[in-house]
Amino acid sequence: MYTPSPEDKFTFGLWTVGWQARDQFGDATRAPLDPVETVHKLAELGAYGVTFHDDDLLAVEPDRDRAIENFKKALADTGLKVPMATTNLFTHPVFKDGGFTSNNREIRRYAIRKVIRNLDLAAELGAKTYVCWGGREGSESDAAKDIRAALSRYKEAMDILSQYVIDKGYDIRFAIEPKPNEPRGDILLPTVGHALAFINELEHPEMVGLNPETGHEQMAGLNYFHAISQALWHGKLFHLDLNGQRGIKYDQDLIFGHGDVQNAFFLVDLLEHGGYEGPRHFDYKPVRTDDKQDAWDSVAANMRTYLILKEKAKAYRADPEVQEALAASKVDELGARTLGEGETLQDLLNDEFDLDGVAAQGFHFTRLSQLALEHLLGVR
Ligand code: GCO
Ligand code: MN
Ligand code: MN
Ligand code: MN
Repeated sequence: MYTPSPEDKFTFGLWTVGWQARDQFGDATRAPLDPVETVHKLAELGAYGVTFHDDDLLAVEPDRDRAIENFKKALADTGLKVPMATTNLFTHPVFKDGGFTSNNREIRRYAIRKVIRNLDLAAELGAKTYVCWGGREGSESDAAKDIRAALSRYKEAMDILSQYVIDKGYDIRFAIEPKPNEPRGDILLPTVGHALAFINELEHPEMVGLNPETGHEQMAGLNYFHAISQALWHGKLFHLDLNGQRGIKYDQDLIFGHGDVQNAFFLVDLLEHGGYEGPRHFDYKPVRTDDKQDAWDSVAANMRTYLILKEKAKAYRADPEVQEALAASKVDELGARTLGEGETLQDLLNDEFDLDGVAAQGFHFTRLSQLALEHLLGVR
């Protein structure tokens, strides 16, 4: 039970379990991981696929061609897929003021070249989604950057990249990953809402969607379940990064469910019933106190937690008392049009109802929430 298999479509970034746990205050606590070992181990643990930044491939083999060859062989040996790839536009010191939106034009041009080089590899490996996480696109001082010009340059970069994909005939769509801060003091496109509005300004909005990360919305004090719901509603949930976060603070990248577990419960319920067919991608970091084996245990923990929540969500929906409570709370009634088919506005204007009587009625959300919590806690 709770044993993952490729049908569950679980995927992991090479940089997740491979994170060496170097932080602001301390050195690495774990040795680099060979991507070949990661691919084999992920397959053994039941994952469907692996994702990567261009630079992740070079963890132990500095020669790019050889590193790619080794990676491809590991994929062929295990059957692991690469549904998504991304570019590292944040580690190298050249990107200290951003990639697509650096004040330095030469750097912006280099950033686009770096993405294009990895887009070719992504297409070759069959990736369908290309994530753009602009962690360095931002500022610490309002004096330092003309934000309107920066957004123009961001758009320009996305337009150039979209056109490149069209010209090459690649079957790839872009997914922007919002984050409010860290590493920059303030990052451009800080939330799902900002990114959605930005996408509308692009030359090829249909080619660009979102890769929302649990902790990133929560760092902004926002509700990830709401964010994913709205992304789905716009048809923009191209991919997602699942993890855990405890409150408004630095980006924790905890194991999925190790943050706001109630939000995670409703999220899994939404993903399983809301029509999202893409990979369940984990972008987390094994805690710095983990040793190598602990880190592998954390990979398994993400998938196991998801499967537990999936089962709990199913049981919640199947529970007759929950169904009754949902009806009592009128949850389904929100699906009914406010102005019925064939009705006119005049019909609505003619309505009379018991204003005070209706105002006095409760929605019984307490009962519903408690039922969900009890399913989650395993007492029902
Ligand atoms: C973060 C981000 C990054 C990006 C990844 C893809 O935690 O701040 O999630 O990990 O997702 O680099 O580009
Ligand atoms: Mn994160
Ligand atoms: Mn992420
Ligand atoms: Mn991350």
